[in-house]
Amino acid sequence: MKSTSYSDKVLDHFRNPRNVGDLKGKDIAKGSVGNPVCGDLMEFSLKVKDNRIQDIKFKTFGCGSAVATASMITELAKGKTLDEALKITRKDVADELDGLPPVKMHCSNLAADALRDAINNYKEKQKTKDEPEKSSTKPHSEHITGEKEFSGKGVYHAVKDPSSLKDQRVLIQDRGKKSIQMAETIAEHSPRVVLVTKEKSQKVKKTIQTELRKSGVKILFESELKEISGLNSVEKVKIHDLDEDNIYELFVDAVVLI
Ligand code: FES
Repeated sequence: MKSTSYSDKVLDHFRNPRNVGDLKGKDIAKGSVGNPVCGDLMEFSLKVKDNRIQDIKFKTFGCGSAVATASMITELAKGKTLDEALKITRKDVADELDGLPPVKMHCSNLAADALRDAINNYKEKQKTKDEPEKSSTKPHSEHITGEKEFSGKGVYHAVKDPSSLKDQRVLIQDRGKKSIQMAETIAEHSPRVVLVTKEKSQKVKKTIQTELRKSGVKILFESELKEISGLNSVEKVKIHDLDEDNIYELFVDAVVLI
């Protein structure tokens, strides 16, 4: 193949890409990467059964070579065990396509990296499932001024009906898995949900961060809720920024502590 032309296989996978789309559901793992060379994006979703890739789909903003390599890698990965699929390299994909022009080799990184990201996210998700009672972040048990005073007046220790917080500015203190799940649930009803956690960004699992961001939850890392105040009900809170060691105020309508 000349360095400026595409093989018949590349053209075929570009014109008739296999496994395009998105998988949905609880047990689906996703992976996405950006290409630092061109800025394009690739996303993979995986359905895994008995440690094998049962189904796989991709979406990309990449060029024709990115489409062809992603299409080919889905065919290579389907049916493989996770560890076998992790071993697929961009060279394997390019070889299966009978080569890519050298200037387009960077495009094949996208597919290989996004697949790897999805597999690693799946593995991490499984680890979390295997430790259901173990919080992903440290419990938070420090005293919060105003917690008792505003209980039932904007401070909630249980939320039976998350839709009652529709469109409210809700602040949730990270006290472990339940609070993280609650943040995601409330975010289905309000676009203004903030999770405050003492953890550093690097310490919170990437899968958890991705899920929270997808739900629209804003995360304040290395932060601690210190005080809740208001006239008759919750109006604002004081947050201690542990990194900068300063205290600032945020206006909120509700504080959830569970
Ligand atoms: Fe961006 Fe090919 S040029 S993926």
